Amino acid sequence: MTDTLAIHGGKPLRTKPFPEWPIFGEVEERYLLRALRSGKWGRLAGNDVSQFEKTFAEYHQAKHAIAVVNGTVGLRLALIAAGIGEGDEVIVPPYTFLATASAVIEANATPVFADLELDTFNIDPASVESLVTARTKAIIPVHLAGQPADLDALAAIAKRHNLIVIEDAAHAHGAEYKGRRVGAIGQMGMFSFQSSKNLCSGEGGIVLTNHDDLAERLRSIHNCGRIAGAAWYEHFTIGGNYRLSEFQGAVLNAQWTRFDQQTSTRDANGKYLAQRIAQIPGLYPQRRGPECTRHSYHLFCFRVVAPEFGMSRDALIAALTAEGIPSLAGYLIPLYRQKLFENLAFGPYRGCQRAHPDLDYRRTSCPNCETICYQQGAWLEQRLLLGTRADMDDIADALEKIHAHGNVSAAIACQGK
Ligand SMILES: Cc1ncc(COP(=O)(O)O)c(C=O)c1O
Repeated sequence: MTDTLAIHGGKPLRTKPFPEWPIFGEVEERYLLRALRSGKWGRLAGNDVSQFEKTFAEYHQAKHAIAVVNGTVGLRLALIAAGIGEGDEVIVPPYTFLATASAVIEANATPVFADLELDTFNIDPASVESLVTARTKAIIPVHLAGQPADLDALAAIAKRHNLIVIEDAAHAHGAEYKGRRVGAIGQMGMFSFQSSKNLCSGEGGIVLTNHDDLAERLRSIHNCGRIAGAAWYEHFTIGGNYRLSEFQGAVLNAQWTRFDQQTSTRDANGKYLAQRIAQIPGLYPQRRGPECTRHSYHLFCFRVVAPEFGMSRDALIAALTAEGIPSLAGYLIPLYRQKLFENLAFGPYRGCQRAHPDLDYRRTSCPNCETICYQQGAWLEQRLLLGTRADMDDIADALEKIHAHGNVSAAIACQGK
């Protein structure tokens, strides 16, 4: 028998902390001071946001980038720019942050939840196709944890049914699908710069597109319906002030100086860790196919199959955290099981109920998503993957240690019954 588990009073396998997030230093200070002293604090006066848009678009092989106040707004503006609204259905996964579906409600359209592939945690194209109706207008795949969804299959479905694809790339800065960076593979793509994200400025977001007409509309909507060349107080379409400030632009330009290196480090560490974890009975790292040529590992996801591992997911998370490896169970509730959806608590956004008077999310069931939420899903945060190879070994060693005790704990738990 190996050492006693830390959760049972033994010595933790690791006491050294993992890297903290965000990482910042002299460059952030210098760029922020430059923005401050310029007196040009709004994006329409300064250069930081526009320079960042150009850098980010080029890196993601996109023609246009429009920075916005956050990713949630980015998704909503993408839907509005595409002309999606009342009566339209948008297919989304239920294993994601709320915004993927709430942005659809706020665009007055109706989210329809498709199930996941159990092994990749990503939206299942077969489930998507089974849900397409004459009202379906768009699919919003999430590149969960930073692993691109099956974009070829989704593009084929979109083509067959005349839909658009809006990539929710909130986790996927710098991720690649078949050698191409995500974000502008679909008609539009959104990234978030909220504090936890792999590239962050406290809050912020961006929408990418290769389509000139969509870019023009996004730019206008995010700037109070103005159009280039017209007077300041002329407004041509409904929009709002969704502009990013120059201080956020300055932080993003500074964070950018480390971004590519950090992304490569996470990708290499994630690959190595997945290979080690796959050796442990009952643990299944998010399956990564050859089409994922770069994973951004905003999260390192794995599944815990309790009967094989000898311990439940929740017991494993507690034990792993006690061993000095902070870990999480992740999204615990499929979005359609959130009270917001079960009770149709949509405030002033009633478009989906007018269009579907019998709308009832209590009837939605996505079995793979429920298995991941309620039983199997486990996450490590991206900052852990910024460590060394030895740090990855600590994570895998801790999981091996816990596994060695799994059957003992299960026996103890049974005796207690
Ligand atoms: C998958 C996903 N989509 C959308 C968002 C929304 O981004 P933001 O928090 O910037 O509004 C997030 C961020 O939390 C996310 O994780």
